[in-house]
Amino acid sequence: MSPRFAHITGWGMAVPDKVLTNDDLAKMVDTNDEWIVSRTGIRERRIAGSDQSTASLASDAAIRALEVANVHPGDLDMIILSTCSPEYVFPATACLVQDQIGAGKAGAFDLLAACTGFVYALNLGSQAIKSNGAENVLIIGSETLSRAVNWKDRDTCILFGDGAGAFVLQASDEPGGILSTVMRSDGSGADLLSVPGGGSRHPTSMQTLYDGLHYIQMNGREVFRFATRVMAEATLQTVESAQLTMDDIQLLIPHQANQRIIEAAARRLDYPMEQVMVNVDRYGNTSTASIPIATVEAFEQGRLKPGDNTVMVAFGSGLTWGAALVQWSGPLPFKRKVSPRKVRWFARTRSLLARLRRRIEGLLWGSG
Ligand code: ACO
Repeated sequence: MSPRFAHITGWGMAVPDKVLTNDDLAKMVDTNDEWIVSRTGIRERRIAGSDQSTASLASDAAIRALEVANVHPGDLDMIILSTCSPEYVFPATACLVQDQIGAGKAGAFDLLAACTGFVYALNLGSQAIKSNGAENVLIIGSETLSRAVNWKDRDTCILFGDGAGAFVLQASDEPGGILSTVMRSDGSGADLLSVPGGGSRHPTSMQTLYDGLHYIQMNGREVFRFATRVMAEATLQTVESAQLTMDDIQLLIPHQANQRIIEAAARRLDYPMEQVMVNVDRYGNTSTASIPIATVEAFEQGRLKPGDNTVMVAFGSGLTWGAALVQWSGPLPFKRKVSPRKVRWFARTRSLLARLRRRIEGLLWGSG
């Protein structure tokens, strides 16, 4: 059997309209624009409105990615949604997205690897395609971390922002697409970055709320040290495993957590900053959404062309880290134009009818 390749054929992003600047934050906590810009590179971030959530941002990004790829939601085999700010403990946010976009025959599940999640999803999605388990896979990174941030804690509240990004992955016999991947973890650093409350270790109680365990807790300095080490390491590993060198890489798309971390990684790699995608200044750290958002903007700025090699590299809570080397391709040729947006509209009606049918069946036959 001839080898199969997994290509990125669609991409999309969605960010809330509401902008929170450093000056706005200075009115909330003891901080200032100069400190935040010099320590992080962040100038502003987006904050989800009351009508937005991890699932709604994810669905918006997904529809845009499906439009670029010209893939009907009904043709998706799998949806992997990476997030550490899911709608609920369960069900998976991916299932809500499956329903919202009308992906009638897709399996759907969430993946939790914090900021590294999108790179993990890229790996899993491409493996499913390469092993003949799927033809069309939707991967999404979506976060509303503004809802897990303690807005009185200046150590963390300046860092995070909300947003979502998505890729469509498709099978093809044409060489290219996702060429190599690296996935790593080190749970001995689990306490360095966490939301400790609300799980089985510390179920939500008046005490956990009082102690603020439902907020992000972070040891910034330790995470910083870890990040600068693993970003360069994982990049080199994925490049070597594809039997390439850094000279073959046209663009580096790192997780957007902190400008200083990105610059330190580039220095370790001896790689020019002009070839590194940075947009942390406008979105802050959108966790697992940062790589697909940066990729969409890199493409729109003409920094990614078919045939280019790019490395996507991330680190995050877990601790986790990983990288993927991608030969950029673009949409596969198609004969008929589809409209994922229309399908989404009908999906709402179909979902309402399914709920109504369940209600009527319950009334007719009882719940027992
Ligand atoms: N405004 C003003 N002063 C501040 C602020 C603030 N917002 N926050 C901290 N400070 C103060 C501190 O209190 C400290 O004061 P002190 O010296 O009197 O004690 C001083 O600034 C220096 O603090 P440091 O923590 O040493 O600052 P540092 O240069 O390390 O920067 C930062 C802090 C930006 C958090 C950095 O450590 C960092 O980026 N770490 C990585 C964080 C990260 O990337 N997290 C996301 C991981 S991805 C995921 O999985 C979600």
